[in-house]
Amino acid sequence: MRKKVTIVGSGNVGATAAHWIASKELADVVLIDIIDGVPQGKGLDLLEAMPIEKRDSHVLGTGDYADTANSDIVVITAGIPRKPGMSRDDLLNTNHGIMKDVVGKVVKYSPNCILIIVSNPLDAMAQAAYKMSGFPRERVIGMAGVLDSARFRAFIAEELKVSVENVTAFVLGGHGDTMVPLPRYSTVAGIPITELMNAATVERLVQRTRDGGAEIVKYLKTGSAYYAPSAATTEMVEAILKDKKKILPCAAYLEGEYGIKGLYVGVPCKLGSKGIEKIIEIKLTAEEKAALDKSADAVKELVGVIGV
Ligand code: NAI
Ligand code: 2OP
Repeated sequence: MRKKVTIVGSGNVGATAAHWIASKELADVVLIDIIDGVPQGKGLDLLEAMPIEKRDSHVLGTGDYADTANSDIVVITAGIPRKPGMSRDDLLNTNHGIMKDVVGKVVKYSPNCILIIVSNPLDAMAQAAYKMSGFPRERVIGMAGVLDSARFRAFIAEELKVSVENVTAFVLGGHGDTMVPLPRYSTVAGIPITELMNAATVERLVQRTRDGGAEIVKYLKTGSAYYAPSAATTEMVEAILKDKKKILPCAAYLEGEYGIKGLYVGVPCKLGSKGIEKIIEIKLTAEEKAALDKSADAVKELVGVIGV
């Protein structure tokens, strides 16, 4: 039987993730949204693209959670995106309200699914979904680090004029202005970028990565990025469905790892069929650890506001 992935929120990120997942034939896809007609129209449109793509993924758009029953993975993208001048944190209360609407219905119909949270502010929304779902932490994962690392990788590849395939990068911490790109663990064909660029260039790319979301918002004006975010989500979906044991930076509920307890923060995780199968603890310098703690404090402040 084919795997089933539900995507809650059929806007820019949700519909584009459905496109990637169906066109890679990773699973059948159910798109759901609060706006009647949008998931139905986009779902049917995608279904009609499958013969051209030579893919047998079935795509259904719906407003009825019964259609999402027994999903293997549910991706939650429901929520408002930011506009110019807004930070991700400005979305906190509205998107927390949307999480309250969505998570219970998802869990009712797919009690064994793995939840991938995308809605912002990411770490706080993942924590809210974790608490509301009652799932073990292995099955509630936040998407941010794969996106932030992909941005860092793209900037490194462009700067050094090398293939993106040669570039690995790691960004830890919360998905906000305090995120922690780690140049020492970012490499080109195994060579740390700190040996390939001067410190000023590394710092410029690090700052561009931190500002990566805002850079796109400034261009789009009416919303935020969605191609790279949905590709990042799809990489996590694929790692889980294919039980790849792939190490990716994800927001995970820490229970003492990195000296942080009771909080979602971005860290390297091994993703497989059980969700987060291991949290990898890498050695950090005092400066890197201080940056991670600062980022965790920013998440703690947000979760405190919504009391999760
Ligand atoms: P969008 O506005 O294009 O789509 C959001 C969709 O959610 C809309 O279709 C809306 O009708 C739907 N929705 C709202 N309330 C709902 C509910 N109660 N039930 C079901 N659907 C509901 O926004 P976009 O660009 O797709 O972004 C979605 C969210 O993802 C935003 O919060 C955005 O900030 C976040 N995001 C997070 C990223 C990350 O790295 N974690 C990257 C990109 C976006
Ligand atoms: C981004 O980083 C808005 O979180 C979203 O593009």
